[in-house]
Amino acid sequence: MAGFLRALCYSQVLVFLLSITCSAAKEFLVGGKTNAWKIPSSQSDSLNKWAESSRFLVGDSLVWTYDKEKDSVLKVRREAYISCNTSDAIEEYNGGNTKVTLDKSGPHYFISGADGHCEKGQKVIVVVLSQRHRLVGVSPAPSPSEVEGPAVAPTSDASSFKAGYLVALGVLVGFMWM
Ligand SMILES: *[C@@H]1O[C@H](CO)[C@@H](O)[C@H](O)[C@H]1NC(C)=O
Repeated sequence: MAGFLRALCYSQVLVFLLSITCSAAKEFLVGGKTNAWKIPSSQSDSLNKWAESSRFLVGDSLVWTYDKEKDSVLKVRREAYISCNTSDAIEEYNGGNTKVTLDKSGPHYFISGADGHCEKGQKVIVVVLSQRHRLVGVSPAPSPSEVEGPAVAPTSDASSFKAGYLVALGVLVGFMWM
């Protein structure tokens, strides 16, 4: 019975830690690495390949790094994205290190403001999911009193609780490295 309670306790700690991790807003480096905001060299849609492999949620942010002398980031409407029209941007950024918080769900369209770059594939669509997708697959976080309640965390068992906490933390770190 004690073993069961202990396991229950560990799993609650794990879920709690996971939910903290999963609910933290993320920052995405556009293209997956620094200075990836440029004309794609081989695959012309590599920026969108990158975007499709990521999961963006409202509250997350995108970071672009690029040479501010030569490039910029334009947030545009769908039509301008398709036609690479740089003259009617919703927002324009040219600081070389641009961070944009994704405040709305749905598709967000970005193109390069540099002459001819968008036509050569320097454009990306980021589809943003609403906040309620954040905890999909993870049960709701228990309140701290549930985690620390006497039934699941007997004080006499403090050391094994600590060990379980470390195991959970280890699993979590492993999870984040996957
Ligand atoms: C670009 O968009 C502007 C504003 O919507 C429009 O006036 C212009 O004709 C467009 N240019 C091209 C080449 O489509």
